[in-house]
Amino acid sequence: MAGRSSALTQSPSWRALEDHYQQVRDVHLRTLFAEDPERGNRMVAEGAGLYLDYSKNRITGETLRLLLQLAEQSGLGARIEAMFNGDKINFTEQRAVLHVALRAPRGATILVDGKNVVPEVHAVLDKMAAFSEKVRSGTWRGYTGMRVRNVINIGIGGSDLGPAMAYDALRYYSDRDLTVRFVSNVDSTDFVEATRDLDPAETLFIVSSKTFTTLETLTNAHSAREWVLRSLRDDAAVAKHFVAVSTNATEVKKFGIDTENMFEFWDWVGGRYSLPSAIGLSLMVAIGPDNFRQMLSGYHEMDEHFRTTPFERNLPVLAALVGLWYDDFFDAQTLAVLPYDHYLGRFSAYLQQLDMESNGKHVDFDGNVVGYQTGPIVWGTPGTNGQHAYFQLIHQGTKLIPCDFIGFSQTLNPLGRHHDLLMANMFAQTEALAFGKTGEEAASEGIPQYQVPHRTFEGNRPTNTILAKRLTPAILGSLIAMYEHKVFVQGTIWRINSFDQWGVELGKALALRIIPEMEARESPQLLHDSSTNTLIERYRRERL
Ligand code: F6P
Repeated sequence: MAGRSSALTQSPSWRALEDHYQQVRDVHLRTLFAEDPERGNRMVAEGAGLYLDYSKNRITGETLRLLLQLAEQSGLGARIEAMFNGDKINFTEQRAVLHVALRAPRGATILVDGKNVVPEVHAVLDKMAAFSEKVRSGTWRGYTGMRVRNVINIGIGGSDLGPAMAYDALRYYSDRDLTVRFVSNVDSTDFVEATRDLDPAETLFIVSSKTFTTLETLTNAHSAREWVLRSLRDDAAVAKHFVAVSTNATEVKKFGIDTENMFEFWDWVGGRYSLPSAIGLSLMVAIGPDNFRQMLSGYHEMDEHFRTTPFERNLPVLAALVGLWYDDFFDAQTLAVLPYDHYLGRFSAYLQQLDMESNGKHVDFDGNVVGYQTGPIVWGTPGTNGQHAYFQLIHQGTKLIPCDFIGFSQTLNPLGRHHDLLMANMFAQTEALAFGKTGEEAASEGIPQYQVPHRTFEGNRPTNTILAKRLTPAILGSLIAMYEHKVFVQGTIWRINSFDQWGVELGKALALRIIPEMEARESPQLLHDSSTNTLIERYRRERL
C-alpha cells in the first residue's frame, strides 16, 4: 500500500530551504538590486547561443546555494549520466529515455541493450532527407503525375505539437511554394477546413503516430484516404499520397501504407520529445534537410552544455531550480512563457505538453503520494499581444505568476522601428514586474489621491529573460532542449517519472465505452452516473 512521500521534504536541503524561505519571502527585488548593484551581470548564464538572465528572481546567493545543494542531494549528476547512457530510467514502462541520441553526431556511440543506436538514427535521417529532397524538387509525384504542392501532417500530441510549433517557428526558412498544414483534432472540422481548398492529386499526407493506434490520428488518416480515393479512384494512389512515421510497422502495413514509405523511430523516444526524430518529417520537407540538421546541432549543443557544465552555470539546471523555488516554496501554480517573437506563437502550447505531460505527476519513484507541488500549469502567448490582455493580472493581481520572457536581438523581418519597439516592451515588462511603482512615486506624479492605490504597482514579480541573437534553426533546437532538460531536472528533484503518461489513459478507455452507446440504433442501457447518462441521452436525441 502506497504511503505519503517524505524522502524529499524531510531531507536536510529541503528543510534548509524551508527555513530560508521564511527569512527571504518578503524581501523585495528593489532591495536585492540596491544591495547588489552587479546582480544583473552576475546572475546570468550562457550556453548554446542562449543568454539567461535570472537576476530578476526572488533569490539571494544563499537561495541559490541551497537550491544547488538540493540538486546535488537529488543525485542529479548520476541521473543525467544514466539518461545519456541509455539506462531504463522510464521505469514504469521499462524504457530508456534517449531523445539526446536523436541529435548525436554521426560518429557517436549510445548503447541501448548493448546496441549502438546512433547509426540507425542517421540512417533514418538520411532516408528522411532523400524523401524531403524528392518532394521539394518535384521528383516525388502524385498518382496522376502532378507535383506535390501540399503536405498535411496527421498526428496528435507529440506527433503534432512539435512539428506544428517548429514549422511556425522556422517558417522564415520554409519553401513558400509548399502549403504545409497540421491536422490533429478528431473534430471533423479540423480535417475539412485543412483540405477544403486543396487538390488531392497534389496533396501528400504524413501520418505520424508513435503507436499507430491513436483514435484521433487513425480516424483522420482514414478520412484522408477516403478523400484521396474519392477523387483518384484507385487504391494504388495510396502509395503516392501517404507516408507514415511510426514505431509500429505492423499497424502501418495494416493501414495500407507500404513500409518502404515508413520512417521509423524507437520506443526510447517519448512522444513529447520526438520532434527531432522522424516525427519532424513534415518540418524537414518544409525547411529542407540542411536547416533540419542545423536544428539538431542546436539541440546537441544544449545537450552537451547540460551534460558537462557545472550546475551553477548550467541553463536547464538554473531554470529548473528557480522554477521549483516558486512552485514548492511560494506555492505558485503557473508559469507564463512569453515569447517576444511572432514566429514562436505555438511555443507555449508545445511546452504545455512537454512540461505538463512530463511532470503532472502525484506519486514518486516509490509509488508514494508526494507531499509537495510538482509541475506548474504552463501557458502564454507572444508579446506584445498579451500586454493588452492578461498582463494586468500579472502586474496587479493577487497571484504570483513567474514568467519566462524570450526575445531576440535581431529580427528576421526588419521593418522600420518595429523590432526596437517590440524589444523595448519586453525589457520594460520585466523591469515593471520586478520594481513596480510605490504609492509615493505614483502620488509624486500628481495623480488624484483616490487613484493612488489603483496606480501603485507592488512589483517583486519574478521573471527570467532568455535572449538570443536571432531565431535560427539551431537556436530553436537549443531553446527546446533547454526546456526538455529543465523538466528532467525538476522531475529528478521531485522524484517523479517524467517520461510516462498514464494519466491520459482513463479518459481514453471511457470514451471507447461511450462510443458504441452513442452509435447504437436502439437506446442502450446506460450504466454511468446520472450526469453522464443524461448527457449521453440528450446527445442521442439531438444528434443528426
Ligand atoms: O495521449 C497521449 C499521447 O500518448 C501522447 O503522449 C502522445 O504524444 C500522443 O498521445 C500521440 O500518440 P501517438 O504518437 O502514438 O499517436
